[in-house]
Amino acid sequence: MKRILVTGGAGFIGSNFINYILSGRKDVFIVNLDKLTYAGNLKNLTGVESHPNYKFIKGDIVNDELVKYIFEKYEITHVINFAAESHVDRSILGSEIFFRTNVLGTNVLLENAKEFEIEKFIQISTDEVYGSLGSEGQFEETTPLQPNSPYAASKASADMMALAFHHTYGVPVVITRCSNNYGQLQFPEKLIPLMIINALNNRKLPVYGDGLNIRDWIYVIDHNKAIELVLDKGKIGEVYNIGANTEKTNIEIVKLILNQLGKPKELIEFVKDRPGHDKRYAINSNKIKNELGWEPGHSFETAMKDTINWYLENVNWWTEIISGDYRNYYKLQYSSQKMYV
Ligand code: NAD
Ligand code: TYD
Repeated sequence: MKRILVTGGAGFIGSNFINYILSGRKDVFIVNLDKLTYAGNLKNLTGVESHPNYKFIKGDIVNDELVKYIFEKYEITHVINFAAESHVDRSILGSEIFFRTNVLGTNVLLENAKEFEIEKFIQISTDEVYGSLGSEGQFEETTPLQPNSPYAASKASADMMALAFHHTYGVPVVITRCSNNYGQLQFPEKLIPLMIINALNNRKLPVYGDGLNIRDWIYVIDHNKAIELVLDKGKIGEVYNIGANTEKTNIEIVKLILNQLGKPKELIEFVKDRPGHDKRYAINSNKIKNELGWEPGHSFETAMKDTINWYLENVNWWTEIISGDYRNYYKLQYSSQKMYV
């Protein structure tokens, strides 16, 4: 039995992962430690809340005493660290909480992983640690880290700390660096759910700059499967890139959403660009494919259709979110955006 501390399991990727892993196997016990920030939502986990192999604990990964208690009481053998402040625009509005959670929090988990001599520590990282690409090339695991946003810099710091704990103390660290995820349960501050929900509400779709920045998209379910493989077979001390070779400009994504929803393209509004906006991400995942046998199982077209349909069918899930504190964030982030073209 793997006794796994999953942190940030009430967020988008973490909750998809917990739902996925508990539906498929009996050899895992999951302790989900989540602070329930604005991005954490226990409604994402209603299907597993009474599962015998699941325990939720509300708390902060920075809280060393609590983390120690959990390692000891639940005899943790594995950690999957999803917990993070995850949104680039918020990190531009204020970076301190990003440093606190993403760097200090990871450090607390690593110190405890060392003390309790666990079997594996998976640090969920991002391709954004590599920086930005021109029109050619892809990020490889060996690409030097060159993070540009405060968010990316905090994730890169955590990666470095994790690798240093492996190198210095032999903590069994594995790092995954995934590209942009989409799918059900994603908080509507990120591009795809924000555009779906604005379109459904006939609100403007704020596209930064010229809309030609490129992201490499992966369906969250495919990411989950990759993490499961890393959990079972990932080699200690290694970094694995994860991506589905799906590069799209932002404007392509926005048009696809409008098209599927039958909404007019007049809803698109080009607004002031994000400061320091990374131009292009593209990730090479040959290593995880060749060494662990991972392949993405969903096409972008089908998975995007499913994602849009999920938001259509789960209006209550996002109505609750956008009627709360989200409104303050939205005002702060978008009200000062001047028309760009
Ligand atoms: P999310 O913002 O949806 O969820 C983050 C979760 O972490 C929330 O449930 C939140 O309550 C929790 N959390 C935040 N601070 C915490 C703290 N101090 N202690 C305990 N819990 C805390 O994020 P996500 O999109 O699910 O991303 C999960 C992880 O994957 C992050 O580490 C992120 O950097 C990484 N990642 C995300 C993407 C993406 O496209 N979303 C891509 C690559 C990597
Ligand atoms: P986002 O979902 O925030 O992910 P990341 O910045 O981590 O890649 O943004 C994806 C792309 O969409 C990015 O190039 C910024 C752009 N974007 C907009 O044009 N408008 C928006 O309102 C948001 C949230 C993002």
